[in-house]
Amino acid sequence: MKTVQPSLFCFVFLLTLLNLGCKENKKESQTDMETENTSMESDHIVKSTFGEKPDGTTVDKYTLKNSMGMEVDVITYGGIITRWTAPDKNGKYDDVVLGFDDLKSYLDGNPYFGALIGRYGNRIAKGKFSLDGQTYTLATNDGENHLHGGLKGFDKVIWVATPKSTDDGAVLELTYTSVDGEEGYPGNLEVKVTYTLTGDNQLEVLYEAVTDKPTVVNLTQHSYFNLSGDFTQSVLDHELFLDADAYLPVDGGLIPTGELRPVAGTPFDFTTSKVMGKEIGADDEQLKLGKGYDHCWVLNEEKGGFGLAATAYHPATGRVLEVYTDEPGIQFYSGNFLDGTLPAQKGGVYGQRAGFCLETQHYPDSPNQPNFPSVRLNPGETYKTKTTFKLTTK
Ligand code: BGC
Repeated sequence: MKTVQPSLFCFVFLLTLLNLGCKENKKESQTDMETENTSMESDHIVKSTFGEKPDGTTVDKYTLKNSMGMEVDVITYGGIITRWTAPDKNGKYDDVVLGFDDLKSYLDGNPYFGALIGRYGNRIAKGKFSLDGQTYTLATNDGENHLHGGLKGFDKVIWVATPKSTDDGAVLELTYTSVDGEEGYPGNLEVKVTYTLTGDNQLEVLYEAVTDKPTVVNLTQHSYFNLSGDFTQSVLDHELFLDADAYLPVDGGLIPTGELRPVAGTPFDFTTSKVMGKEIGADDEQLKLGKGYDHCWVLNEEKGGFGLAATAYHPATGRVLEVYTDEPGIQFYSGNFLDGTLPAQKGGVYGQRAGFCLETQHYPDSPNQPNFPSVRLNPGETYKTKTTFKLTTK
């Protein structure tokens, strides 16, 4: 996580805080903003209605397009990417991310397909951590642990959207105020996530946040990719490179033990690109605990700052996904918990390993592990981190 000094964003945050005591006003101003948004649309960003929640809240969909023909659909519920098209080596565009056709399926039980994750991506042991001598108790939603922000994380809230078109692509700014005490976290947190689709098939995800009390933050994006475009196929034939010489072994609850274990000589070594399925079935204690790959890799730091963290390649279609980030870790999750019960977008069901996630992040359970890089955010600082997904072919 990079933090910067107070900025215009902090100023906007202060104004929003002034508004917090007055929720009705806030609702009105959000509606005004939405109306205004519609008039800002152009060819590169189109707004439509995705669905309505049982409480009557409308969920909008924004389709971001670029001059190459790539399209990314984002809904205001959870900031979820529901569809993302990418060309294969013959120029044929296909959806490469798992999702559902309707809002109801997202509401009924989404395994975080395409969602923005917060306030803390990944697990916090026993849903507890301390800051400045005070213990905070979070919602537990993964056995005894806290996962992906709790029972109602940022993946299940309505974000306020502001679309902007650019010459060759589109920008969608999403904001959300997470109030003090939400899911047990301290501090009012003002969050802004900006999706930018560039003219050369890159989707930049910029995360920013400010707080009025010390808190912890670890935001990520939870898209499940299947570069084949055929969601009935497992992703085990994709090749993967991870720029990581070490990973974080876990216990039975998938909480890191605290060890940074070298990948060399283990099935966790992706420093040279290899097929995801090559060793996933190996007789390895860590693979058994994760039911496959579900671990955080410790990214090599030699690039300092923003650099290539991962590359996935699907030989049959030629599609390549590159992930760039300034985060210290990346969770490679091989879709182990998909079990054939969820309806797939193009028919059929999502079977085990129908998609893989590359979640850039700070290490899981950092608030309880003093040896891990800090995830603390103080008032007056701005949480700022960027991840870019680039889709090409070879
Ligand atoms: C976690 C998995 C979890 C999945 C839920 C991943 O980020 O690492 O353990 O089951 O999210 O979809």
